[in-house]
Amino acid sequence: MKFSEDQIKNLIDEAIKARENAYTPYSHFKVGALVIDQNGNHHNGCNIENGSYGLTNCGERTAIFNGISNGMKTIDTIVVVADTTGPVSPCGACRQVIKEFSTNNTVIILANLKKEYKIMTMEELLPYGFQL
Ligand code: THU
Repeated sequence: MKFSEDQIKNLIDEAIKARENAYTPYSHFKVGALVIDQNGNHHNGCNIENGSYGLTNCGERTAIFNGISNGMKTIDTIVVVADTTGPVSPCGACRQVIKEFSTNNTVIILANLKKEYKIMTMEELLPYGFQL
């Protein structure tokens, strides 16, 4: 693993900070995410809900779209955090969007507020995912 335990905890802290901006008046379930791009730049995101529920944007996708808007080409590392019993499990839509910008080396860190975490590869997170 290319990150030390301390580095992982710091990355989770960044995602927890992003989570504080989540807009969740409907579910009250806040998600924070951090993506590190191919150049080492950090981009964060949170979930943003809407009164028309289906228009909600998940935290992972907000962070990725933020990154792409700022020059990200590929995801080196993504960290996702929520207040869950174990490390948060990203939804299927976000798994597919992460896949779009992942490489064979993308590191996926799933965590909760207690900083319990699980590190996964893209293939583990979305086996046999769609690809054009
Ligand atoms: N949510 C995320 O932000 N990421 C996921 O991977 C799953 C769900 C959000 C969407 C909604 O705002 C809230 O969590 C409850 O579904």
